[in-house]
Amino acid sequence: MSLWALADLHLSFSVPEKSMELFGPLWKGYAQKIERNWKAHVQADDLVLIAGDICWAVRFEEALVDLAWIDALPGTKALIRGNHDYWWDSKKKMRSVLPPSIRIIDKDALLWNGIAIGGARLWDSEEYHFDELIHFQENPHARVRTLEEREQKKERDERLFNRELDRLRLSLQQLDRTAKRRIALTHYPPIGNDLKPSLAAGILEEFRIDVCLFGHLHNLKKEMPLFGEARGVRYALTSCDYLDFTPLKIKI
Ligand SMILES: [Fe+2]
Repeated sequence: MSLWALADLHLSFSVPEKSMELFGPLWKGYAQKIERNWKAHVQADDLVLIAGDICWAVRFEEALVDLAWIDALPGTKALIRGNHDYWWDSKKKMRSVLPPSIRIIDKDALLWNGIAIGGARLWDSEEYHFDELIHFQENPHARVRTLEEREQKKERDERLFNRELDRLRLSLQQLDRTAKRRIALTHYPPIGNDLKPSLAAGILEEFRIDVCLFGHLHNLKKEMPLFGEARGVRYALTSCDYLDFTPLKIKI
């Protein structure tokens, strides 16, 4: 029973026009690459942690085709919501429909073979930036914001980030106290690459998290080591393009 992580699958079976293949040759055939690598590593009794940005669907019913594709892959999968998972619905509705191999974490926590898993999406934080780590690439979906829009975005980001910190705390409060290991999933990185203290990292430390897995960052420069361990918490980026579309084995 091994533990794996792979975030930001960005599947587009329900909205092929949003395929990540627009982002260049690295993403060519990405769903096939994920499937091939996943099947080569993950066994039926393993758990795969998916830290958000699962698919491009807008409604839950549309996402079902992507979720069925995930269900057909080996192992149990634990999902949190990313900023692009607009399809995310009430957990009651999702749990009534989702197959047993797909578990969701939403303001609560999960226990799997003695490992407690919680988390929250988080959001952009003013505390740290990743600009120098990223190979910037034109986003074909993006448009330029006006100054007013940028100011409104800043206020909204701060509000959303603070709400996400509350949600992270709420989830981690529900981690099983008898668990031998504690994992947090966050979609946005909870800390900068310099591992300096941050609000989110402080919560992870307070709840004695062993490993925090996250995604959201794409097109990273791979020539330097990223993240690592700080104050008892190990931080790992698990975006699928960063991992060459191969699940990362989590030693715990
Ligand atoms: Fe994201």
